[in-house]
Amino acid sequence: MNIPEIRKICCIGAGYVGGPTMAVMAQKCPHIRVVVVDVNEHKIAQWNDTNLDNLPVYEPGLKEVVKEARGRNLFFSTDMDAEIDNADMVFISVNTPTKTYGKGKGMAADLKYVELSARKIAEVATSDKIVVEKSTIPIRTAQAVRKILSNTGNGVNFQILSNPEFLAEGTAVNDLYNPDRVLIGGEESEDGKKAMEALASVYNNWIPKERILQTNIWSSELSKLVANAFLAQRISSINAISALCEKTEADVDEVAKAIGMDTRIGAKFLRSSVGFGGSCFQKDILNLVYISRFYGLDEVAYYWEGVLDINDYQKNRFADSIIIKLNNTLSDKKIAFLGWAFKKDTNDSRESAAIYVADRLMEDKGTIAVYDPKVSEKRMHDDINYLNTRDKEENDKLLQYYPDPYEAMKDAYAIAVLTEWDEFLDYDWQKVYDNMIKPAYIFDGRNILNHDKLRKIGFNVQGIGKKNK
Ligand SMILES: NC(=O)c1ccc[n+]([C@@H]2O[C@H](COP(=O)([O-])OP(=O)(O)OC[C@H]3O[C@@H](n4cnc5c(N)ncnc54)[C@H](O)[C@@H]3O)[C@@H](O)[C@H]2O)c1
Repeated sequence: MNIPEIRKICCIGAGYVGGPTMAVMAQKCPHIRVVVVDVNEHKIAQWNDTNLDNLPVYEPGLKEVVKEARGRNLFFSTDMDAEIDNADMVFISVNTPTKTYGKGKGMAADLKYVELSARKIAEVATSDKIVVEKSTIPIRTAQAVRKILSNTGNGVNFQILSNPEFLAEGTAVNDLYNPDRVLIGGEESEDGKKAMEALASVYNNWIPKERILQTNIWSSELSKLVANAFLAQRISSINAISALCEKTEADVDEVAKAIGMDTRIGAKFLRSSVGFGGSCFQKDILNLVYISRFYGLDEVAYYWEGVLDINDYQKNRFADSIIIKLNNTLSDKKIAFLGWAFKKDTNDSRESAAIYVADRLMEDKGTIAVYDPKVSEKRMHDDINYLNTRDKEENDKLLQYYPDPYEAMKDAYAIAVLTEWDEFLDYDWQKVYDNMIKPAYIFDGRNILNHDKLRKIGFNVQGIGKKNK
């Protein structure tokens, strides 16, 4: 197969991964033409919007990157056929959600969009290409992609690489500038090695060689699922301990600090909270569980399932503590939510703990008044309607969007902190207190506020894994 120096890249999928990843790649490789394509015309129009505040993805530093590279060597387009065919290297960065139908429903990854992308490449390619799996996919997906691409009968050759993305939303630009490692998996053949080298040389424009790791393709595919499972497992581990802390007067932050100083354990990902969210952790663990079962490894499946069980337990525990404190009745009571995004510094709310906590409180007829600095009203309503717990009219009545945090908290019986946005620390909490129904409760699902100060004002404060004073 002819493997040229990479000059033209096309990425299928202009989402939270495809958009920022390609923007940084274009910024760092001005000699490479990078085109991001998507079937969603509206999204492509947003990426092309002259007002950079309208980009579909919010990430600190992203608009500056787009501003520099867009129109120079970074393009967003809906002309998929031409751009795919024109490229030396095609990234597949489409969504791989949990299946909602058929075999593997609720567990397995839905590879429909990956397959459609592979079929599109097979259909339109007239020259040899390196195809890179950037999406998170189950181990051995490359085999399925290869099957599609090697049966075109049109004489075009493909090399398939796995190059999972490890960026974290909220710090994506920084993570892309300075990744802990870049992982590239490929075939062990001569052409496979050349293809891996070609991709490594693209990254090597800004990432030192020693951080570019090359493995066999299956190790690379599996490593992404395993990395997310390990990260989520740490959160569930500390969250499990938070429940024990609440019963025993230990303080979860003190415990986390004490164990995190052990270099064998390390301090990162030990913050207790209302539970993890995001589009990846849950779906990737479900996928790992499904694959383990598929191979008859039931004990392995149970082990990882426990991580998700604790996460659900944590969200439910948090919601229930609000219901109990408010005398087991939320009817006609306003509960203010600070935050809807699954973490700070992103407008992404997929699988956010806020959705599930709100849903449980709405079951008790609570009125949820939400303020989030970046998540739109439409998105909040889409999130809650997606659960199908009650009809849309009821959801519209019970879930209310507030563009102003003070208005959201005015006349509320309780405040629940669901996202760790920095701005929450600087609110005029005396003013908030004065405008609330008494006793005024704060349920700090992120342990970010100054609890002692709030108690002095008069709030009744409940943190996660804290003694409830
Ligand atoms: N979001 C993260 O933090 C993150 C991090 C690492 C890896 N991942 C993985 O990366 C992949 C993409 O995630 P995301 O968050 O960017 O998803 P996303 O939903 O934000 O974006 C996916 C995009 O792909 C487009 N698309 C779907 N099918 C298409 C097709 N056939 N042709 C063209 N475009 C198509 C969609 O319209 C959408 O814009 C997933 O596999 C995910 O697990 C995500």
